[in-house]
Amino acid sequence: MLTGHKVGLRARHDEDFPILRAELYNDVVNGSRSQVAPWRPVSPDSKDSELFVHDKEEGRVPFSVVDLEDGALIGIANLWGIDNHNRSAHIGLGLLPAARGKGFGTDVVAVLCHYGFVVRGMQRLQIETLSDNDAMLRSAERNGFVREGVLRSSAWVLGEFMDEVLLGLLARDWRPTALTSADA
Ligand SMILES: CC(C)(COP(=O)(O)OP(=O)(O)OC[C@H]1O[C@@H](n2cnc3c(N)ncnc32)[C@H](O)[C@@H]1OP(=O)(O)O)[C@@H](O)C(=O)NCCC(=O)NCCS
Repeated sequence: MLTGHKVGLRARHDEDFPILRAELYNDVVNGSRSQVAPWRPVSPDSKDSELFVHDKEEGRVPFSVVDLEDGALIGIANLWGIDNHNRSAHIGLGLLPAARGKGFGTDVVAVLCHYGFVVRGMQRLQIETLSDNDAMLRSAERNGFVREGVLRSSAWVLGEFMDEVLLGLLARDWRPTALTSADA
């Protein structure tokens, strides 16, 4: 498991699926705001979902996020769009509603940076988020991401086009803020 100050990033377990499905993926608003594809409900036995981990998929590494205090599942985190030629990747995360606004997101970004830069040897990490997602923007900026541009009207979200902000962080500019470590 990868650990920060407050969170652990571990493999996805079978018991995570019902919680993530109910609290993240079947939430129309969260799904519409967080995903590039149109929202659709995820049935209990579906394998056609971002939730599922395909071990041979090299371009995406999905984690489940836990609270280090009690081991409770609090969300998901991904390194995705991994490009081993240009050594770049995207990061994404989503916390269960009750876990938001408590500093977990900032720590998840820190751990994903450790995974991307140290474990995977990336030289650039990127985030795209809706321009009104202040919590995501702050979580990224707290970890050194800088705003590189605005993708105007790039996201269709629940009846309107919204702008997305593109943020990037280069390995040479990264200053680790969390005591990230990897346990067996
Ligand atoms: C976006 C998300 C991951 C951020 O994680 P979080 O744990 O809520 O954020 P944190 O508690 O670490 O807060 C980070 C910063 O944002 C601020 N913040 C938190 N919630 C906020 C809110 N609702 N509105 C404005 N600012 C907020 C905090 O004060 C903090 O700022 P600071 O560093 O200046 O003190 C989380 O809110 C989430 O999962 N949201 C729903 C899914 C989503 O939007 N995912 C991202 C898709 S790109």
